[in-house]
Amino acid sequence: MQTNLTITLPDDWHLHLRNAEVLTKVLPYTSRHFGRAVIMPNLQPPVITTANANLYRQEIINATPKEHHFTPLMVLYLTEQTDPEDVRNGFLAGDIAAVKLYPAGATTNSEAGVKNIEKIYPVLEVMQEIGMPFLVHGEVVDADIDIFDREAVFIDQKLIPIRQRFPNLKIVFEHITTKEGVDYVLSCETHTAATITTHHLVINRNDMLVGGIQPHYYCLPVAKRELHRLALLKAATSGDSRFFLGTDSAPHLAQYKESACGCAGIFNVANTLVILAQVFEQENQLPNLEKFTSLHGPKFYKLAVNTGTITLSRTDNAQPLPADVVTDEGVIKVFDPKMPVFWKVDSIDY
Ligand code: DOR
Ligand code: ZN
Repeated sequence: MQTNLTITLPDDWHLHLRNAEVLTKVLPYTSRHFGRAVIMPNLQPPVITTANANLYRQEIINATPKEHHFTPLMVLYLTEQTDPEDVRNGFLAGDIAAVKLYPAGATTNSEAGVKNIEKIYPVLEVMQEIGMPFLVHGEVVDADIDIFDREAVFIDQKLIPIRQRFPNLKIVFEHITTKEGVDYVLSCETHTAATITTHHLVINRNDMLVGGIQPHYYCLPVAKRELHRLALLKAATSGDSRFFLGTDSAPHLAQYKESACGCAGIFNVANTLVILAQVFEQENQLPNLEKFTSLHGPKFYKLAVNTGTITLSRTDNAQPLPADVVTDEGVIKVFDPKMPVFWKVDSIDY
């Protein structure tokens, strides 16, 4: 049995960091183990211009521990008013890595998102021209669509028409949760990739709903039935370069999740890499872990891979769950994969 693993320092291609105190508390978990992360812009107010993103980047850099070597990759939150020229200039200047589509009402702080997809076509035109990745929260939000069908319906109603209209647009289908999502990506030969979260590789909807409602397993898109988890697992561990890690780590204070109207999001970045090592080992695909965490993402984004490395080792005893993150306002619970994790991080060489 393999007991040691040194891989290229990973990147997180989908991360929520928030701002102010929560940012300072959660950021070190990412900056310690990752070279870069794509920073989601659904703050309140959202990050909608390059100028906003540059301010937010500085806040993140100021909060990064000096001994870490971390680069935030900034993302604009797409609205129906987004200026295509701001997008072009921000990307060409190296300030902005991507633009994110939140269908209005789909998730946390998505009220300012897009209602009519056609209104954003001028922005997509520019993005296609300059090779800028378009990150998609792929769910329809119509009241008559069952929440477990939102992703599959989005593919048919929105994604396929966008792809037809913009054949060369680089699209990342974010945090896919379904077999339909996997199959859609596999059906695209070029310009299409998907991120997969750590938690969707581990939990299905039973973990959220059986034996009492489990708010710490509630996220969006919501976890689906087991056959979908198995499809994600196969895609993530397969070595196919269209799939890479986006943790979607999304911190919320425990009191807002353990509530009559609990919010969506799972904070998983404190133990993501060791959980992934466990999962890839169980699938007999440990040699593909580095591709998923460290190689496929840079390839799609056309960035160099990180030069640093991280070394993990397998121990004889299951490792304890990391402690809750303590803030002045309450705690943030760390994702509990509810399975023994024998891997730990040994060292990092930046
Ligand atoms: O579970 C989620 N939490 N899904 C999202 O799309 C947003 C995120 C958040 O920001 O809390
Ligand atoms: Zn997210």
